[in-house]
Amino acid sequence: MSVLSGKHILLGVTAGIAAYKSAFLVRLLVKKGAKVKVVMTPAAKDFITPLTLSTLSKNEVFSSFTNEEDENAQWNNHVALALWADLFIIAPATANTLSKMATGNSDNLLLATYLSAKCPVYYAPAMDLDMYKHPSTDATFKKLNDFGNIQIPAEHGELASGLSGQGRMAEPEHIVTFLENDLLQQLPLRGKKVLITAGPTFEAIDPVRFIGNHSSGKMGYALATVAANLGAEVVLVSGPVGLTIEHTLVKVIHVTAAAEMYDAAHQHFESADIAILSAAVADYRPNAIADQKIKKKDTELTLTLEKTKDILASLGEIKKDQYLVGFALETENEIENAKSKLKKKNLDLIVLNSLNDKGAGFKGDTNKVTLITADNKVVPFSVKPKIDVANDIMQHIIKQIHA
Ligand code: CTP
Repeated sequence: MSVLSGKHILLGVTAGIAAYKSAFLVRLLVKKGAKVKVVMTPAAKDFITPLTLSTLSKNEVFSSFTNEEDENAQWNNHVALALWADLFIIAPATANTLSKMATGNSDNLLLATYLSAKCPVYYAPAMDLDMYKHPSTDATFKKLNDFGNIQIPAEHGELASGLSGQGRMAEPEHIVTFLENDLLQQLPLRGKKVLITAGPTFEAIDPVRFIGNHSSGKMGYALATVAANLGAEVVLVSGPVGLTIEHTLVKVIHVTAAAEMYDAAHQHFESADIAILSAAVADYRPNAIADQKIKKKDTELTLTLEKTKDILASLGEIKKDQYLVGFALETENEIENAKSKLKKKNLDLIVLNSLNDKGAGFKGDTNKVTLITADNKVVPFSVKPKIDVANDIMQHIIKQIHA
């Protein structure tokens, strides 16, 4: 999943020959999961039709304050358009539009929208090489960048004039990569490695049977998604669950038994900055796994179980600077039991699920948690979808590690 997924992107198209590439840019952004709207200058319509861009963006394209041909036309609200956007990208950005942006001129819808924008504004210049290196263009770039706009530098190559040099609008693929990298840099968990365990473990009895539990893994997968969306490199050690995760920043290690989860978690803990152990690890396993399927007999079958290693506690023993988070599932004396678990396992934070709360637990799509910190702060949350619970947990951790 891209950092652009779900983002509202307003694409501004101005009157340069590179406007034909805006169609590819819209397509790439939509493919990344972004919601795209296009605003164009009236002159840009000489280079690419609004129909092309509206078809690709699946949204109406705006180019004037009203539609003059329609006497009942409504005002195209530049303020609402600007506020809708999470990012405003002007590509291609001609020398004319850029100079107007630098001086506050707002004689078309695109410029009025630019002046109203509160979101980050990116611009990809497109012009001939001499225009590009003219001192006035350079002064415009400086001014725009001082205002906080972000320049996506033009590329070298053949230009529409037949000349060759710097001035070509950055290729749409490069614009998308630029945006993704820039957004990633700004994310609060950029450069951090997060280890997460999720799901149940299955402890084999014989080649076909096991001891397991009903954990769905949803909470751990939600945590992995949120952490990656916040820029972290995530290692997700997952027990057997029916879930998948597609994110460039998430590496999934599939395990079955507690002992494998223990090994995988230890392998990645040293290099981790944050470790969140949300897996419902089996506390016991058969002390021997039968080589062959156990045949039924007329008498009872007795299994002897031995304790599995407590992964969380073992990480608590060796932890250095890692921020270590555990989960607790309690039915009585919830807060006190969770607090003592936090101390015993040397945690920084414990996430308490109470089975007494409706909507909490490890099977459903919602959860209700209380966060308890090492300094005994107790922060209760309401019942929410697990993805929102994951966000509450990650935001809490970010505050703690940056405190
Ligand atoms: N945990 C673990 N390895 C185990 C058992 C548990 O890493 N072998 C972790 C879980 O991932 C969770 C926390 O420890 O973060 C749960 O602690 P645990 O002591 O097992 O508490 P409960 O599951 O709440 O159960 P109990 O009260 O029976 O101890």
